[in-house]
Amino acid sequence: MFDIILNNMRQIDPREIATNPIRLIGDQWMLVTAGKLGNFNMMTASWGCLGELWYKPVAFVFIRPPRYTFEFVEREDRLTLSFFDETYRQALQICGTKSGRDIDKVAETGLTPYETELGSVAFHEASLVLECRKLYADMLKKEHFLVPEIYQRSYSASELHKMFIVEIERAWTK
Ligand SMILES: Cc1cc2nc3c(=O)[nH]c(=O)nc-3n(C[C@H](O)[C@H](O)[C@H](O)COP(=O)(O)O)c2cc1C
Repeated sequence: MFDIILNNMRQIDPREIATNPIRLIGDQWMLVTAGKLGNFNMMTASWGCLGELWYKPVAFVFIRPPRYTFEFVEREDRLTLSFFDETYRQALQICGTKSGRDIDKVAETGLTPYETELGSVAFHEASLVLECRKLYADMLKKEHFLVPEIYQRSYSASELHKMFIVEIERAWTK
Protein backbone atom coordinates (compact mmCIF):
# COMPACT_ATOMS: atom_id res chain seq x y z
CA MET A 1 0.00 0.00 0.00
CA PHE A 2 2.85 2.41 0.74
CA ASP A 3 5.17 1.74 -2.21
CA ILE A 4 3.76 4.75 -4.02
CA ILE A 5 6.04 7.55 -5.14
CA LEU A 6 4.38 10.67 -6.63
CA ASN A 7 5.67 14.19 -7.12
CA ASN A 8 9.03 12.94 -5.88
CA MET A 9 7.50 11.99 -2.53
CA ARG A 10 6.93 8.60 -0.93
CA GLN A 11 3.61 7.75 0.67
CA ILE A 12 3.83 6.69 4.30
CA ASP A 13 1.38 5.59 6.96
CA PRO A 14 0.60 8.69 9.08
CA ARG A 15 1.70 6.58 12.06
CA GLU A 16 5.21 6.58 10.62
CA ILE A 17 5.62 10.37 10.87
CA ALA A 18 8.95 10.48 12.64
CA THR A 19 9.10 13.97 14.14
CA ASN A 20 7.52 14.74 17.49
CA PRO A 21 4.26 16.58 16.63
CA ILE A 22 4.88 19.38 19.13
CA ARG A 23 8.19 20.11 17.45
CA LEU A 24 6.77 19.57 13.98
CA ILE A 25 3.98 22.14 14.38
CA GLY A 26 5.20 24.37 17.21
CA ASP A 27 8.84 24.74 16.18
CA GLN A 28 9.08 23.78 12.51
CA TRP A 29 5.69 25.39 11.62
CA MET A 30 3.52 24.36 8.68
CA LEU A 31 1.78 25.82 5.67
CA VAL A 32 -1.98 25.36 5.61
CA THR A 33 -3.05 25.40 1.96
CA ALA A 34 -6.53 25.19 0.47
CA GLY A 35 -7.95 25.65 -3.00
CA LYS A 36 -7.13 24.33 -6.44
CA LEU A 37 -4.01 24.84 -8.50
CA GLY A 38 -4.56 28.28 -10.06
CA ASN A 39 -6.76 29.49 -7.20
CA PHE A 40 -5.40 28.64 -3.77
CA ASN A 41 -3.84 30.31 -0.76
CA MET A 42 -1.47 29.23 1.97
CA MET A 43 -0.60 30.58 5.41
CA THR A 44 1.84 29.67 8.13
CA ALA A 45 0.48 28.02 11.27
CA SER A 46 2.32 27.02 14.43
CA TRP A 47 -0.65 26.04 16.55
CA GLY A 48 -2.36 22.71 16.05
CA CYS A 49 -2.22 19.02 16.86
CA LEU A 50 -1.69 15.64 15.26
CA GLY A 51 -3.40 12.64 16.83
CA GLU A 52 -6.11 10.04 16.73
CA LEU A 53 -9.86 10.62 16.84
CA TRP A 54 -12.96 8.80 15.61
CA TYR A 55 -10.83 5.79 14.55
CA LYS A 56 -8.81 8.04 12.24
CA PRO A 57 -5.47 9.82 12.18
CA VAL A 58 -6.35 13.50 12.45
CA ALA A 59 -4.94 17.00 12.66
CA PHE A 60 -6.43 19.99 14.46
CA VAL A 61 -5.88 23.33 12.78
CA PHE A 62 -6.82 26.75 14.20
CA ILE A 63 -7.49 29.59 11.77
CA ARG A 64 -8.68 33.12 12.49
CA PRO A 65 -11.58 34.13 10.20
CA PRO A 66 -9.90 37.32 8.87
CA ARG A 67 -7.16 35.24 7.16
CA TYR A 68 -7.50 35.04 3.39
CA THR A 69 -6.72 31.32 3.71
CA PHE A 70 -9.82 30.97 5.88
CA GLU A 71 -12.05 31.68 2.87
CA PHE A 72 -10.45 28.81 0.96
CA VAL A 73 -10.57 26.42 3.91
CA GLU A 74 -14.25 27.20 4.44
CA ARG A 75 -15.07 26.67 0.77
CA GLU A 76 -13.11 23.48 0.15
CA ASP A 77 -13.64 19.95 1.47
CA ARG A 78 -9.89 19.41 1.78
CA LEU A 79 -6.67 21.15 2.76
CA THR A 80 -3.01 20.22 2.97
CA LEU A 81 -0.43 20.67 5.70
CA SER A 82 3.12 21.09 4.36
CA PHE A 83 6.24 20.93 6.54
CA PHE A 84 9.66 22.22 5.51
CA ASP A 85 13.24 22.07 6.70
CA GLU A 86 15.03 25.13 8.08
CA THR A 87 16.07 26.29 4.59
CA TYR A 88 12.53 27.51 4.03
CA ARG A 89 12.08 29.46 7.28
CA GLN A 90 12.04 32.76 5.35
CA ALA A 91 9.29 31.47 3.04
CA LEU A 92 7.22 30.53 6.09
CA GLN A 93 7.89 33.95 7.62
CA ILE A 94 6.51 35.58 4.48
CA CYS A 95 3.43 33.34 4.42
CA GLY A 96 2.87 34.13 8.10
CA THR A 97 3.21 37.90 7.96
CA LYS A 98 1.79 38.86 4.56
CA SER A 99 -1.65 38.14 3.16
CA GLY A 100 -2.43 36.51 -0.14
CA ARG A 101 -4.89 39.38 -0.55
CA ASP A 102 -1.91 41.74 -0.92
CA ILE A 103 0.93 39.72 -2.43
CA ASP A 104 1.53 36.74 -4.69
CA LYS A 105 2.92 34.33 -2.10
CA VAL A 106 4.20 31.87 -4.68
CA ALA A 107 6.19 34.60 -6.44
CA GLU A 108 7.48 36.06 -3.15
CA THR A 109 8.55 32.75 -1.63
CA GLY A 110 9.71 30.89 -4.74
CA LEU A 111 7.81 27.80 -3.55
CA THR A 112 6.58 25.47 -6.28
CA PRO A 113 2.97 24.33 -5.94
CA TYR A 114 1.71 21.04 -7.33
CA GLU A 115 -1.64 19.29 -7.42
CA THR A 116 -1.86 16.40 -4.98
CA GLU A 117 -3.38 13.01 -5.63
CA LEU A 118 -6.66 14.14 -4.07
CA GLY A 119 -6.81 17.42 -5.99
CA SER A 120 -5.46 19.78 -3.35
CA VAL A 121 -2.30 21.89 -3.52
CA ALA A 122 1.04 21.30 -1.78
CA PHE A 123 4.68 22.28 -2.42
CA HIS A 124 7.59 20.45 -4.00
CA GLU A 125 9.99 21.91 -1.44
CA ALA A 126 8.11 20.34 1.51
CA SER A 127 9.70 17.44 3.35
CA LEU A 128 6.34 16.19 4.65
CA VAL A 129 2.87 16.73 3.15
CA LEU A 130 -0.40 15.70 4.77
CA GLU A 131 -3.49 15.60 2.56
CA CYS A 132 -6.51 16.18 4.78
CA ARG A 133 -10.30 16.13 4.63
CA LYS A 134 -12.41 18.34 6.87
CA LEU A 135 -14.44 16.40 9.45
CA TYR A 136 -15.56 18.97 12.02
CA ALA A 137 -15.32 22.71 12.51
CA ASP A 138 -16.41 25.14 15.18
CA MET A 139 -15.53 28.58 16.47
CA LEU A 140 -13.82 28.69 19.82
CA LYS A 141 -16.09 30.45 22.32
CA LYS A 142 -15.05 32.85 25.05
CA GLU A 143 -17.40 31.30 27.61
CA HIS A 144 -15.85 27.85 27.09
CA PHE A 145 -12.37 28.86 28.26
CA LEU A 146 -11.75 27.25 31.62
CA VAL A 147 -8.59 29.26 32.34
CA PRO A 148 -9.26 32.98 31.82
CA GLU A 149 -5.57 33.79 31.29
CA ILE A 150 -5.57 31.75 28.09
CA TYR A 151 -8.37 33.82 26.64
CA GLN A 152 -6.84 37.07 27.87
CA ARG A 153 -3.44 36.34 26.41
CA SER A 154 -4.47 35.04 23.02
CA TYR A 155 -7.83 36.64 22.28
CA SER A 156 -8.42 39.87 24.19
CA ALA A 157 -6.84 41.83 21.33
CA SER A 158 -7.66 39.58 18.38
CA GLU A 159 -10.37 37.31 17.06
CA LEU A 160 -11.08 33.80 18.25
CA HIS A 161 -9.92 30.95 16.05
CA LYS A 162 -12.11 28.53 14.20
CA MET A 163 -11.00 24.98 14.93
CA PHE A 164 -10.94 22.47 12.08
CA ILE A 165 -10.55 18.78 12.78
CA VAL A 166 -9.30 17.11 9.62
CA GLU A 167 -8.65 13.50 8.72
CA ILE A 168 -5.14 12.77 7.46
CA GLU A 169 -6.02 10.87 4.29
CA ARG A 170 -2.53 10.68 2.80
CA ALA A 171 0.94 11.37 4.18
CA TRP A 172 3.94 11.93 1.92
CA THR A 173 7.61 12.29 2.77
CA LYS A 174 10.91 12.58 0.92
C1 LIG B 1 4.91 31.39 13.14
C2 LIG B 1 3.50 31.79 12.79
C3 LIG B 1 2.45 30.99 13.18
C4 LIG B 1 1.13 31.33 12.87
N1 LIG B 1 0.12 30.49 13.27
C5 LIG B 1 -1.16 30.80 12.95
C6 LIG B 1 -2.22 29.93 13.30
O1 LIG B 1 -2.03 28.81 13.85
N2 LIG B 1 -3.50 30.30 12.98
C7 LIG B 1 -3.77 31.49 12.36
O2 LIG B 1 -4.95 31.80 12.11
N3 LIG B 1 -2.77 32.33 11.99
C8 LIG B 1 -1.48 32.01 12.25
N4 LIG B 1 -0.46 32.83 11.87
C9 LIG B 1 -0.78 34.08 11.13
C10 LIG B 1 -1.01 33.89 9.64
O3 LIG B 1 -0.06 33.02 9.06
C11 LIG B 1 -0.92 35.27 8.96
O4 LIG B 1 -1.94 36.11 9.46
C12 LIG B 1 -0.94 35.24 7.46
O5 LIG B 1 -0.46 36.46 6.97
C13 LIG B 1 -2.31 34.95 6.88
O6 LIG B 1 -2.20 34.99 5.47
P1 LIG B 1 -3.47 35.01 4.51
O7 LIG B 1 -4.24 36.28 4.80
O8 LIG B 1 -2.87 35.00 3.13
O9 LIG B 1 -4.27 33.80 4.79
C14 LIG B 1 0.87 32.51 12.16
C15 LIG B 1 1.94 33.32 11.75
C16 LIG B 1 3.26 32.97 12.04
C17 LIG B 1 4.39 33.85 11.58
